[in-house]
Amino acid sequence: MERTHKCGELTKEHIGQEVTLCGWVAGRRDLGGVIFLDIRDRWGLVQVTYYPESVAFASADEVRKEYVVSVRGKVQAREEQNINREMATGELEVVASGLEILNTSELTPFYITDDVQVDENLRLRYRYLDLRRPAMQRNLLVRARLAKTFRDFLDANEFVEVETPILTRSTPEGARDYLVPSRIHNGHFYALPQSPQLFKQLLMVSGMERYYQLARCFRDEDLRAERQPEFTQVDIEASFIDQDAFMTLVEQLLAKILKEFQEHDLPLPLARIPWQQAMEKYGSDKPDLRFAMEITDVSDLVADSEFKVFSGAVAKGGSVRALLAPGQFSRKEVDQLSTITAAHGAKGLAWMAVETEGIRSPIAKFFSAEQLTALTNRLQAKPGTTIFFVADTDTFGVVLPALGALRIHLGKEMQLIDEAAIRSCWVVNFPLFEYDSEEGRYTAAHHPFTAPEPGDEDKLATDPAAVRAQAYDLVLNGVEIAGGSIRNHNVQTQLKVLAAIGFSEQEAKERFGFLLEALSFGAPPHGGVAFGFDRLAALLAGENSIRNVIAFPKTNSAAELMTGAPAAIDERQLAELGLKTN
Ligand code: AMO
Ligand code: AMP
Repeated sequence: MERTHKCGELTKEHIGQEVTLCGWVAGRRDLGGVIFLDIRDRWGLVQVTYYPESVAFASADEVRKEYVVSVRGKVQAREEQNINREMATGELEVVASGLEILNTSELTPFYITDDVQVDENLRLRYRYLDLRRPAMQRNLLVRARLAKTFRDFLDANEFVEVETPILTRSTPEGARDYLVPSRIHNGHFYALPQSPQLFKQLLMVSGMERYYQLARCFRDEDLRAERQPEFTQVDIEASFIDQDAFMTLVEQLLAKILKEFQEHDLPLPLARIPWQQAMEKYGSDKPDLRFAMEITDVSDLVADSEFKVFSGAVAKGGSVRALLAPGQFSRKEVDQLSTITAAHGAKGLAWMAVETEGIRSPIAKFFSAEQLTALTNRLQAKPGTTIFFVADTDTFGVVLPALGALRIHLGKEMQLIDEAAIRSCWVVNFPLFEYDSEEGRYTAAHHPFTAPEPGDEDKLATDPAAVRAQAYDLVLNGVEIAGGSIRNHNVQTQLKVLAAIGFSEQEAKERFGFLLEALSFGAPPHGGVAFGFDRLAALLAGENSIRNVIAFPKTNSAAELMTGAPAAIDERQLAELGLKTN
């Protein structure tokens, strides 16, 4: 029996027609001699009814959930009392005259419906069944449609899709590499790309001018909900375009996506928030602008207080910053909140509950009445609120990130975030370097190919901490969905940047000789960006984990539960590769 229609496409217009459908048995009910099968295909679900008179009745009796079937029958309107409003085809049924069992199925380890709570590891172990669930199929469709939207926009703007190698040399993006041993060159390794960064720059040297790629990237780093060891970027690069013009193009692309997927009109141009301001107001370089709750500097008000934790931090060049929460908290709750700030290095979380009678706080005794009034005034704290404080000598490394994490936590917990809102911004003027206290040296904050702000170049050797980068991150609802920069097309500047992070000219040439050489053969000014494709797809699909928009993702321990990767390999393979394990 050849399929004539898809289950989900049947409408009232098909009433009276003979149809043949194919799909899986999503449900089976036997109501006193009448058998109802819900048949599911990628397009939806429809009810098929077997009466005892039907020649197919006996087969329908044999059928179980997830059997694969082909059914034939006539589309009919359901009687008023049998209409199912929850179902797109709920006003119809197919009264069956035929049924062919194309395959049977074992009892599945979980029901294939959207409303059952299934352990994620079980879902990943049987991912093909998990992907049979309508919600997961919708996610994959969002993903595919998003890829097309990107391609359409980029094609229309004369960007050319070019593939770059997967087996290559390390491209530093700040994570560990995944390595592939070479059989032909024993003891040598390919690295899987952390991004196509260097190749896209080489394509600019080659005169492609506008490149893009849906690129698979590999990073061996600590995983969480928004990170996977292999993930997809929409990687973009252009020549002869400055930071401002490039950002304008990219935000138009985002606006097109949000219009198509959310019917949202993104107001352009997007706010361009300097990194320092994002940190000071929101304690984050990816601020969630769906709620206010800004961080306030109170260093000046507490510098002379008798609370040594506060006055000491200020005296040593640090600061004390405060966050006003609309509510009051038990001691136990404050303890829980302080684990969040502690994770960012804060040594404590001080608080003051504001009440009509005054301030209630274990540290109130260290402050004069004037100091307390000045604090509540600056924070505009009304009775019923709580002021939280973090003090530290390291303002940007500890105080602000700690309060930023607290802000996000409280925003979610206290439902201060308007979940329906869409708020996007750019974060710009990042520092070019950050100090790595473990290694005792500066490292690239983005990656080492980012160009310094034009005025800051002479500080590269003398004051690296003060050099700002021509880098920009695109943030959507508190998620960094894209990041990019203008690059060093001048070989001397590139060498100076590498020198600042500890590469001698000799070492720079060993590691990045091919790039430096290429820059010396007429490299045009260029820059680009890469979207985190999975993150954006997850946001658009309304999923909070990128695993739900990746067909076959890995767990947080980088394992693939279905195939069992990573797996041991046999002695012969090891010997061929010149490897030993222990
Ligand atoms: P960056 O490292 O910022 O830039 O990566 C770009 C975007 O990729 C996403 N992303 C990830 N998504 C899922 N899992 C991960 N492990 C992961 N890591 C990053 C983020 C991020 O914004 N070559 C530069 C881009 C450029 O300069 O043009 C780069 O890779 O959404
Ligand atoms: P202590 O003096 O250590 O007993 O701390 C008194 C209060 O101040 C406690 O609520 C601590 O959590 C808080 N506290 C301690 N260190 C800090 C800090 N660096 N920043 C903010 N609060 C702190």
